[in-house]
Amino acid sequence: MFAKTLRRTLPVALAALTVVGFTAAAHAPTSLKNAYKKDFFIGVAINGQQISGQDVKGDAIIAEQFSSISPENALKWSLLHPQLDKYTWDAADKYVEFGEKNHMFIVGHNLVWHSQVPGWVFRDDKGNLLTRDALLERMHDHIRTVVGRYKGRIQSWDVVNEALNEDGTLRQSLWLKIIGPDFIEKAFQYAHEADPQAQLTYNDYNLENEPKRNGAIALIKKMQADGIPINCVGIQGHDHMDWPTEEQEDSTIAAFAALGLKVSISELDIDVLPSAGPITADVSANLQNQQTANRNPYVNGLPDSVQKDLAARYTMLFHVYMKHRKEMSRVTFWGLSDGDSWLNGFPVRGRTNYPLLYDRQLQTKPAYDAVIEAAKYKAK
Ligand code: GLA
Repeated sequence: MFAKTLRRTLPVALAALTVVGFTAAAHAPTSLKNAYKKDFFIGVAINGQQISGQDVKGDAIIAEQFSSISPENALKWSLLHPQLDKYTWDAADKYVEFGEKNHMFIVGHNLVWHSQVPGWVFRDDKGNLLTRDALLERMHDHIRTVVGRYKGRIQSWDVVNEALNEDGTLRQSLWLKIIGPDFIEKAFQYAHEADPQAQLTYNDYNLENEPKRNGAIALIKKMQADGIPINCVGIQGHDHMDWPTEEQEDSTIAAFAALGLKVSISELDIDVLPSAGPITADVSANLQNQQTANRNPYVNGLPDSVQKDLAARYTMLFHVYMKHRKEMSRVTFWGLSDGDSWLNGFPVRGRTNYPLLYDRQLQTKPAYDAVIEAAKYKAK
């Protein structure tokens, strides 16, 4: 009797579930990490509120959707090591615990950069610039301490960030001026020494542009010739609606993969606003004086046509990533939702931007569906 009732009612119940969209009961719920699980990690940069657990809804989405995390700021030198003898581990420890709890590929960002590094790093107690040896020692201590603390727990380190100029020459940072060009090789050696298993990455923006890409290739070839342990290149991916082209993205990934390295898209977002000067992700750029109404056209929402164009841009990019899926390590979005994005304040402060897959209410956008769909793409 019971079995008969069940036979009769089950199809009805299942049909009802289907109508209200719960066929998900039969399949796993859609997620970015599942869609790409055979291909590469899908990461997201997480901010202080997400690390500390204050963004409850955001954290739930991050845990459900992503297989990798990067710290937006928590591991940068100025936050982690603000004074010579002082490390502030709290946020960094919580960040790593969050990743471990959710079984994620955990990224350390970053060790050596010209920005978000305190002035004292380069000077002695009288305010004079350090000697090469003294700065190398300071760099060594920092890397040994930070990488050592998370040995075996942080799987991938952005060892050097943004060492190149647009023309492919080395940026005139204090690292370069004081130590010389081998500051990069030294940083990788120190990181390898502190955690021989970790993936070590050179990370930069605008590598899709040929002069800078050629500079990176020359740098990496020299490192390889010198026996330096580098395993991966991070193409930041701070993209625009008209840059990079499909060909640029494709040939850039191919060029780095040809060096025998893994490739990450390490900081993906797509700026939908009118460009406010030359394309750059140089955090010191400030085009504040250009803030006029036509530079901030979508204060009241993104028009459907632009939503569609944004989704199409994501489709194009993910088709290229899928074409290279065997060479890719991860694709990391620089922020969870549009409201979290640095692009609301860069390079012009106070604009309303829409670069990511989740809107300000943490609802998925058409760009999210486009990325899920692109996982089915198989290049010919
Ligand atoms: C660069 C850095 C990141 C971040 C972004 C802007 O790309 O690598 O750490 O600061 O700029 O948020």
